[in-house]
Amino acid sequence: MLDLINSIRQSSDEFHIKNADDLDKYRIQFLGRNGLMNDLFEKFKAVEPADKKQYGNVINQLKNDLQAKFDSSKVELESGKDQSISEEWDFTLPVIPDLTGSRHPLTIVRERMIEIFERMGFNLSEGPEIEDDWHNFSALNFPLNHPAREMQDTFFIEKNPDVVLRTHTSSVQIRVMENAKPPFRTISPGRVYRNEAISARAHCMFHQVEGLYVDKNVSFADLKQTLFHFVSEMFGKEIKVRFRPSFFPFTEPSAEIDISCLICKGSGCNVCKQSGWVEIGGAGMLDPDVLKNCKIDSEEYSGFAFGMGIERMTMLKYQVRDLRLYTENDIRFLKQFKSN
Ligand code: PHE
Repeated sequence: MLDLINSIRQSSDEFHIKNADDLDKYRIQFLGRNGLMNDLFEKFKAVEPADKKQYGNVINQLKNDLQAKFDSSKVELESGKDQSISEEWDFTLPVIPDLTGSRHPLTIVRERMIEIFERMGFNLSEGPEIEDDWHNFSALNFPLNHPAREMQDTFFIEKNPDVVLRTHTSSVQIRVMENAKPPFRTISPGRVYRNEAISARAHCMFHQVEGLYVDKNVSFADLKQTLFHFVSEMFGKEIKVRFRPSFFPFTEPSAEIDISCLICKGSGCNVCKQSGWVEIGGAGMLDPDVLKNCKIDSEEYSGFAFGMGIERMTMLKYQVRDLRLYTENDIRFLKQFKSN
């Protein structure tokens, strides 16, 4: 009998009540109708009358102790005290890192682009997103009412055609040239706006990195080498670059820059529409009239400019098929991009 009493006490001592589930289990196992205490009372009935007093006291004591353990655990759990923190926890263990955040793919690509150009000596310049006609168009040689303005569907605000959401960050280059003396070697990353229907391939808001280099004797060869170097740093040495003649009002000659398709390596696929080439931006030698608009002597100085879209660059780098994903904030999309 005494052995049985002791073993029940020991089991109770070893039973750790950490939550409401445990509390219920404890009650059923020890205090319930088919629990150990009831068994014990059954067995007690068969005890010799002479021994009843001796065992009766011990059993009652045990019952009171188990009930007290149940009651105090219940009070503690209800008061919200955390039972799971016990001596068994090792507080010196390192914490599990919180992996919920990651950098946006556009941020990763923008910073990489900036890093590559900075190492070639370009600094950063910024300008306003709400621009006037002069900086977004006129100074860049887009004459008023000239069809070239239609190249970029523009958002005008406040019914005042002089106030626009900038359609490119070339406007920043005008501000740089107006406000300092050459030489300039600068890039202007930033957000731009065009009045386009949103689709997998177009958005009314996107980001550019435009570059400007003005000095004595800057030539088309400098432009080519700058972009060759950029592409090989960004996408790898095996990627080829091609310049296709094009038109921009502020550059002459002008070119569109293509690179060999990163998916099929030039053999033709649906990303490059079977051509083997994909476009990454525009470039050209600064039109002397643009220099003049900024009061820079175009006999003494020459320069080049280029512009590339960050969304497009990111699509190519990570094979993103739909640029609406960038702004949907779907965590399943965003968490795929890890850097540094
Ligand atoms: N600003 C042009 C655009 O947004 C790109 C460009 C920049 C082209 C510099 C040539 C030189 O389309």
